[in-house]
Amino acid sequence: MKALILVGGQGTRLRPLTINMPKAMMPVLNRPFLEHAIRRLAGYGIREIILTQGHLSQPIEGYFGDGGQFGVSLRYVVENSPLGTAGAVKNAEKHLGDRFLVLNGDVFTDLDLAPMIRFHRERKAVATISLTPVEDPTRYGLIETDPSGRVSRFLEKPSPDQITTDMINAGTYVLERRVLDGVPPQTQWSFERQLFPSLLESGQRVFAYPSPAYWMDIGHPKDYFQLNIDLLKGRSSQHIPARPDEVSLGEGSQVDETARLTGPALIGRSCRIGPKVTMSGPTVIGDNCRLDEGAIIEESIIWHDTHIGAGTRVVRSIIGEGCHIEAGSIVNDSVLGDNVTVAAGHRLKVGSRVWPGKTVGGEDKGDDTA
Ligand code: GTP
Repeated sequence: MKALILVGGQGTRLRPLTINMPKAMMPVLNRPFLEHAIRRLAGYGIREIILTQGHLSQPIEGYFGDGGQFGVSLRYVVENSPLGTAGAVKNAEKHLGDRFLVLNGDVFTDLDLAPMIRFHRERKAVATISLTPVEDPTRYGLIETDPSGRVSRFLEKPSPDQITTDMINAGTYVLERRVLDGVPPQTQWSFERQLFPSLLESGQRVFAYPSPAYWMDIGHPKDYFQLNIDLLKGRSSQHIPARPDEVSLGEGSQVDETARLTGPALIGRSCRIGPKVTMSGPTVIGDNCRLDEGAIIEESIIWHDTHIGAGTRVVRSIIGEGCHIEAGSIVNDSVLGDNVTVAAGHRLKVGSRVWPGKTVGGEDKGDDTA
């Protein structure tokens, strides 16, 4: 069976992290998000994967190439303008078999695919939608089913009094190719709002497959942050730390003997952790990062090639690639795009989102967030 992964979204809600980097390439435990998904599919023996792209396609092709290094064969289908989720699959129709898998490219899950595919086959479904329970279903589209698992109703962004289930669409589908007959070519079309409801209206066999498996949609920075934390804490079967407080150090990284590191934490390759640095987990540090004397890092995710100056304090923040957090500055609960400089001694406003390439503090007295 082939699989198609949707990676063409704009990732608007994740800005500034997705201005120069597609959501699928954002590092999760120092590997692109998409690499986890591709390796998982390869683990199921799925060898042919189609990536439907639009926004920022080059970084993905540059990293994954033909997929051989990851044990799969990759085909890229690029949209000239965004076609939406179902429109993107329609656009790749000629490369698909009679039955195939579709994965949202921003969902990290331990969902077991083999029983889901079996369920789909046994129910003679045209579409099977994976479901996951969530605490607050009002943010999502709900899916109601009958006792056999057949979908009876879709409910988009329900009000609290309309909530009859906590099960939402988990973004993994098994589909029969003929469902695409109802999707107009080269037209923006959505699974959730158009294709699935229309299949239901025309009486077709749409089923839902609930699973309690680990699931995280990285739509917002806080979800992306939480995913990294969950993985460090061993909440997914895809990353089991040796110990709950494990500090894992990449090849060629050096830690000064006076630094105090508390896990869980992952430090990439070729990093230099200076004297009297204090790092408390859960924290991820990318490759080639430098943390100077006395820096304090708490519960943060720092991407590759970033420099954290002496005596700085970085707390519950996401710091993009190639940033400079200069000596004595403070970054709290913030999200910084790539190549941002926080000038020496600057205290960034709590909750800032700083756009790539900006310098904040120092001579620049402008808005931290623009
Ligand atoms: P926001 O802009 O923040 O809403 O994010 P998004 O549009 O990137 O993500 P959304 O959750 O709406 O989409 C779910 C999945 O479908 C993600 O993996 C997106 O990359 C992908 N996706 C969304 N729209 C398109 C599209 O027009 N074409 C393709 N190929 N993929 C899409």
